[in-house]
Amino acid sequence: MISKDFMWGAAMAANQCEGAYLKDGKGLSVVDVLPDAAHGRWDMLYHPEKYLGRKLDFYPSHEAIDFYHRFREDLELLAGMGIRAFRTSISWPRIFPNGDDSEPNEKGLAFYGELFDECRRHGMEPVVTLCHFDTPYALVEKYGGFKDRRAVDAYVRYCQTVFERYKGKVRYWITFNEINMITHIPFLGGGILLEGEENKPQILYQAAHHQLVASAIATKTAHETDPENRVGCMLAAGSFYPYSCRPEDVMASIEKNHENYLFIDVQSRGAYPGYAKRIFSENGIKLHMEDGDEALLKENTVDYIAFSYYSSRLTGTGEEVKGKTVDGNAVTTLRNPHLDITAWGRQIDPIGLRVTMNELYDRYQKPLFIVENGLGCEDIPEPDGTVSDDYRIDYTKKHILQMQEAMKDGVECMGYLPWGTIDLVSAGGGEMKKRYGFIYVDRDNEGNGSLARRPKKSYEWYKRVIASNGEDLD
Ligand code: BG6
Repeated sequence: MISKDFMWGAAMAANQCEGAYLKDGKGLSVVDVLPDAAHGRWDMLYHPEKYLGRKLDFYPSHEAIDFYHRFREDLELLAGMGIRAFRTSISWPRIFPNGDDSEPNEKGLAFYGELFDECRRHGMEPVVTLCHFDTPYALVEKYGGFKDRRAVDAYVRYCQTVFERYKGKVRYWITFNEINMITHIPFLGGGILLEGEENKPQILYQAAHHQLVASAIATKTAHETDPENRVGCMLAAGSFYPYSCRPEDVMASIEKNHENYLFIDVQSRGAYPGYAKRIFSENGIKLHMEDGDEALLKENTVDYIAFSYYSSRLTGTGEEVKGKTVDGNAVTTLRNPHLDITAWGRQIDPIGLRVTMNELYDRYQKPLFIVENGLGCEDIPEPDGTVSDDYRIDYTKKHILQMQEAMKDGVECMGYLPWGTIDLVSAGGGEMKKRYGFIYVDRDNEGNGSLARRPKKSYEWYKRVIASNGEDLD
């Protein structure tokens, strides 16, 4: 059922694994000023202004898991599982330390060149995100990040540079990680500070428009640079269910889904959808478009729909749901009484993956690509160092089964890339304690540990899954 070239793989991101945050000419990114869990990481995501300028002793991204220096050993371990596709991101400030320097940083370019060569040597297809939560911090200071249209020019120049440099080495690109996050955690999503702004929705959607234009130009440039290039958008997905069959709840779930689909509608269908007009008028938003923007969006749509899926979401309008919210990966959702929930407050819904895939495919009719999915939880190694993560195997197995069901429903799916395949720093909490990997990394929340890598029980399991092309899930 699953084709031989299905991309069973692994997914990571530069800002959460590389470390070496100022090495070889790299500049700061927005993530590099985010504190660890104990010093207000979550709060800073929502109120960055309160923290900027403070100096701490420890920032999790500065060393992360030191992938920058250990990538050969790490790819070797991934290759040992039979990984066919490796998703990572290029750190924009490693290539342009200030975001818009006159010349790119050759050492940064050389690093990714070696990384992609090494992937190919192991038979892994690189899947590369161009901006995964790491807008150069200098652009925040200079322009206010993507608030200002000049960030588009900087992003496009960066993309052009890496498309040319890695022509023939990288074919699969993703323009912005979870583009819908810009309205939820705008500092991480686009280097945006909102304090003092009178009309916050105006700022957010204008910045989102800038990213959408930037994404369309990048898509055009990628296609012109190499017709073999395939470019995807990327959604933090998870369909909203209605809390009840009350018509108001059903309508509310449609509206909540629209808030996220809006971005992908532009990137995949090439125009702002009808409901966007209503969102804009009800929130006092007047989008400024330049001549040619509409044509650009229309003519440069993406080739595939990449998405992350951790859980479904839930919304409702009745009195009975008031105050019953939990974390939906930075998107607020109601607690679904039919679902289990992790210690970090994330609900577990494998069938929701099938629901989400059907909705996305019905809507866009383009190949889907699962580029993140996984269970974030604490792993406690045995005295001999082994980690028996049956809970992770169970989670992943159930999601793969539902992915296969969706494919039987007729959904085209290019691949499955579980998130944080090697333990890395969590984006939301900045923790190491919350782990997703099939490979354990000896490092704690405070930055202690040898950084040694050790396969967990899930490593051998996933190896069998890949070898059997998804047949052997036990
Ligand atoms: C996605 C991001 O939102 O979720 C990743 O693309 C992130 O960067 C992942 O790590 C899991 O979230 P967290 O907060 O548990 O790391």
